[in-house]
Amino acid sequence: MNNLEQINEVLKVIKNRCSVRAYKAKPISQKKIDVIINGAIRAPTACNMMQYSILEVKDQEMKEKLVKTCDNQSHIAKAPLVLIFLADVQRWQDYYRISKVPEKCKELNQIYRAPAESDLMLACCDALIAAQNAVITAESMGIGSCYIADIMENIEIHREMFNLPKWVFPIAMLCFGYPKQDLSKRILTSRFPKKFIHFTDNYKRLNKEDFFEMFKHIKKESLANNAENIGQDYYLQKTGADFSYEMSRSVKVAIQDWIRKD
Ligand SMILES: Cc1cc2nc3c(=O)[nH]c(=O)nc-3n(C[C@H](O)[C@H](O)[C@H](O)COP(=O)(O)O)c2cc1C
Repeated sequence: MNNLEQINEVLKVIKNRCSVRAYKAKPISQKKIDVIINGAIRAPTACNMMQYSILEVKDQEMKEKLVKTCDNQSHIAKAPLVLIFLADVQRWQDYYRISKVPEKCKELNQIYRAPAESDLMLACCDALIAAQNAVITAESMGIGSCYIADIMENIEIHREMFNLPKWVFPIAMLCFGYPKQDLSKRILTSRFPKKFIHFTDNYKRLNKEDFFEMFKHIKKESLANNAENIGQDYYLQKTGADFSYEMSRSVKVAIQDWIRKD
C-alpha cells in the first residue's frame, strides 16, 4: 500500500469504505444529516446548474413501500436515513418558462430546445457525483451507506409516490446508518486488478486469457442455476435476472416520456 494511503485521512476513508446494509437502531442527528447534505451539495456540477435534487424519505410507511418496489431489500426500512438522488432538469425548465426563454428564442428566431437524452445523462452525472460526496461525507463520520439502484425500477409507482414531474428521474437511492458490525474486522470486497481497468491512450479490449486472469481471484462456492462458470453465474443472477428486466422496462418508459413532445 502507498504510504500516503495510510496517513492521509481522506484516502483512508476512501480506501476502507464498504457498503453497509445492517444498521444500529441509533438515529442520525439532524446536525449530521445537514453535514451529509452539505457535503453532497459541494460536489462538482455541470455548468454549476445543480441539475439534481435530494429527496429525504422520512415516512416509515414510504420506506416499507420502497422495500417492496426495490426488489424486497429489507434494509431500506431499517435505515435511519434514506436519500433519493433525483436527476432534475425540471427546475431549470420551470425557471426558463418563468423567465420567458421560449418567447426570447422566438424573438431571436431560435428554436427552443426541450430537454433531450443528453440533459438526462448530464443530470444523472450531477446527481451521482453529489451522491458519492454524501457517501464519503457520511463515512468520514462513521456512518455507513449503501446504494440502491432498484429505485430506477417501477417508475410509475415512484413518480406517484414522490410526486415527480416529467423531467425528474430517480437515478439512485442511498441508505445510511451506523454499522451494526465492527467494520474494522470486515474484509473488503475485491476489485479487478488495476491493469484491466486503467488504460493509457487507447481502450484495450480484453481477450480470453485476460478474463481468466481477471476472475481468477474470485472464488464462488456455489454457482447459480447450474452455471458452469462465473460469467454464466453473473448473467443469471444479475444481468438476466428479473430485477434487471424490470429496470430495463422502467428506464425505457422514463426515457420515452422524457423525450415525448406534448
Ligand atoms: C449504482 C450502484 C447500485 C447499487 N445497488 C445496490 C442495491 O440495490 N442493493 C445493494 O444491496 N447494494 C447495491 N449496491 C452496492 C454494491 O453491491 C457494492 O458497492 C458492491 O458489491 C461492492 O461492494 P462495496 O461497496 O462493499 O465495496 C450498489 C452500488 C452501486 C454503485
